[in-house]
Amino acid sequence: MSAHTSAHERHHTPEDHGSHGNHAGHGQGQGHTHGHTATDADWETLATHLETSAELHLPAYRDTAARLRALLGPGHPVRRVLDIGSGPGVMTGVFAETFPHAEAVAVDATPALLEHALARAERLGLTGGRVSVRQARLPQDLAALAGESGPGPADLIWSSKAVHHVGDQQGALDALAGLLRPGGMLAVAEGGLPMRYLPRDIGLGRPGLQARLDAAQEERFQGMRAGLPDSVRVREDWPAMLGRAGLTGVGSFTSLLDLPAPLPGPGRAFLHSQLTRLRGAMTDQLDADDLATLDVLTDPEAAEGILRRPDVFLLSAVTVFTGTRPAR
Ligand SMILES: C[S@@+](CC[C@H](N)C(=O)[O-])C[C@H]1O[C@@H](n2cnc3c(N)ncnc32)[C@H](O)[C@@H]1O
Repeated sequence: MSAHTSAHERHHTPEDHGSHGNHAGHGQGQGHTHGHTATDADWETLATHLETSAELHLPAYRDTAARLRALLGPGHPVRRVLDIGSGPGVMTGVFAETFPHAEAVAVDATPALLEHALARAERLGLTGGRVSVRQARLPQDLAALAGESGPGPADLIWSSKAVHHVGDQQGALDALAGLLRPGGMLAVAEGGLPMRYLPRDIGLGRPGLQARLDAAQEERFQGMRAGLPDSVRVREDWPAMLGRAGLTGVGSFTSLLDLPAPLPGPGRAFLHSQLTRLRGAMTDQLDADDLATLDVLTDPEAAEGILRRPDVFLLSAVTVFTGTRPAR
């Protein structure tokens, strides 16, 4: 923290991180705080950013859902899909479209995000019980989801960038696996690569800005994890963790989103929002040169700003880890 920034002023909005948060729906991920557990209000402020980001990544989401359908195979009818830590429910909607005989349930701790999910489902015509929402907090509320008052056990459980917000990640996976029907699949999007959207040398400041942003975000991510209640360090070997949760046939695949330069407007608007957030959050972690570069990149009028420069692209790789609950 700089001498000029008080603890009170310190930025406490959930923000972004590299590979942990970089899934096929976001750029560098969201929801990471530094030594501060994100509150529902923090997540609420991110609703539009999360939805815009996810919409950009819809091609990769659809690809991911189709791959999960193929992995489940034709012999496994999918009647219920749970999207745990759904945010505004973009992937929930994709699942409802991919599995037309299933109900897709968006599950999140933040009510405002679930309102977005419902509104989105209505806009898409996914009514009549195709998409529903359920407020629940990982991990303590999960058991109730399988009970009589919950939607019941699922054939497919998807969780993208939510498990890393739980202190005990292995415990969260164990609880998620316990919600599966025999033969059902858990798919966890927690890996991949930090998003890329600028060349190494952008002709401004010191080359390598993206790598330095990644390093700063990694540090913040670690601070976020350490600050979670009951935080447990675990070797993040996701296949091994899924195996310890009792799942078999464990594997992974990676979905790619590749939007070459020149990036169309919606992608630029998302990146502008992303860089503005990073600029606000990282005053203590970046040097003056990098902060000045971010000021130019986020200036809507600047020819070298992210909204106008010709060399902006968007490349995102998200790894999904899967495992199946053994059939009885
Ligand atoms: C980074 S966002 C990911 C949203 C969405 N899955 C996606 O990939 O776009 C994390 C989401 O997890 C939710 N979340 C965080 N901690 C949670 C918890 N302990 N239980 C349930 N949801 C949680 C947040 O409200 C937020 O919607």
